[in-house]
Amino acid sequence: MAQLWGGRFTKETDQLVYNFNASITFDQKFFHQDVRGSIAHVTMLAATGILTEAERDTIIQGLNSIVADVDTGTLEITGEYEDIHSFVEANLIARIGEPGKKLHTGRSRNDQVALDMKLYVRDEISEVQELVLSLMKVLHRLMKENINTYMPGFTHLQKAQPITFAHHLGAYMEMFKRDYERLTDIRNRMNYCPLGAGALAGTTYPLNREMTAELLDFYGPTLNSMDSVADRDYIIEMLSAFSTIMMHLSRFSEEIILWNSNEYQFVELDDAYSTGSSIMPQKKNPDIAELVRGKTGRVYAALTSILTTMKGIPLAYNKDMQEDKELTFDAIDTVKGCLALFTGMVDTMTLRKERMEASAKNGFTNATDAADYLVNHGVAFRDAHGIVGQLVLYCIERNISLDDMKLEEFQAISPVFEADIYDAISMKTCVEKRNTIGAPGQKAMQAVIDLNEAYLCEKGSGKHE
Ligand code: ARG
Repeated sequence: MAQLWGGRFTKETDQLVYNFNASITFDQKFFHQDVRGSIAHVTMLAATGILTEAERDTIIQGLNSIVADVDTGTLEITGEYEDIHSFVEANLIARIGEPGKKLHTGRSRNDQVALDMKLYVRDEISEVQELVLSLMKVLHRLMKENINTYMPGFTHLQKAQPITFAHHLGAYMEMFKRDYERLTDIRNRMNYCPLGAGALAGTTYPLNREMTAELLDFYGPTLNSMDSVADRDYIIEMLSAFSTIMMHLSRFSEEIILWNSNEYQFVELDDAYSTGSSIMPQKKNPDIAELVRGKTGRVYAALTSILTTMKGIPLAYNKDMQEDKELTFDAIDTVKGCLALFTGMVDTMTLRKERMEASAKNGFTNATDAADYLVNHGVAFRDAHGIVGQLVLYCIERNISLDDMKLEEFQAISPVFEADIYDAISMKTCVEKRNTIGAPGQKAMQAVIDLNEAYLCEKGSGKHE
């Protein structure tokens, strides 16, 4: 048991207590961030005269050698240390002796862990943004290629009006753009450095908090030392943004599962992204999409867990807050894995364009356009709605579509119909006439695609803000 605090105790910690309390098995995830924070801290301590430059250099060399040994596997992070902070400090003292004991001057594990978690979360937010960006690039390509790929649009999962595949994907594009921007907002809001807050009340050493904030790429120091060590809002915000990403991926997965089903056959998933059945030889299952849909629950669980953990905690630090880590790490890994696999799955799936178009043609997706035709010829919309309702019934009874009706049949129900009705309700017209901003018509779609192109170029150049 390697602990940083034995002095005032007369007994050894009970082993079960030690195990229950220890965090080394999971907080080693931010080992690199912990060392990065320590290097900034000692750099500042030397700049303010609290440490000598020689002490600073020895400590930094010692820290770097620990990193090198852990990275090459020469030094193992083991359970004999209570947490990652103790691991680093104990190894430092073992390597460099006396100066190592000065590393923790003017610092508490409370501001240290607050910093480590922030650095870790900040790095991961950027990685998730990159993955969202890769997905958006694939959607963008598919949108450009499918501006004229007709398919039915649904409400209540019933065929409603014809749209294009580009338009359908465009809906998800908007969701992922919002997801990306949400992460940018969170990163900006959290980007203040808690280091120097001490246990809760700052320190009497003349620390230069602006300096450490700058060394660690923060906008500046946090402004209340109690809030600095007690704030986990940024984790909650990130998990909320992740939950929304998963919700979007899950809806999209659900659609892909439907589209890939025998009944729809709008898409076919690549063999590399499908799995078979142990008993039914004919099966090719969309397991990746199903897993993404399924894993959404565990990301929501991480959010619910930390909201619940934080709700009863008095200021400032309490050990409950150690529970902010495991589920958060799991949620980060889950979101990253799901985004990467989902992107590959969408990128490689084959589109069955003729199936989509045929499906859009039956199911009366052009009924609204038939009503609009009547309105354009002077019929009130409510009457037009009734007339087209009769047409639909007529077709259902004969198992035909509106386009199959003869002109005399149209005219028997309403004399207003002329030969140009066929053109007015053709798939092409139904889609192409819809050119209000955000609609599926080619002109409207192209305008959005151009905006997306500019957006992706800007984000692709590495600007997250
Ligand atoms: N493992 C602890 C955590 O994750 C580090 C902070 C410990 N601070 C303390 N006062 N015991 O929260």
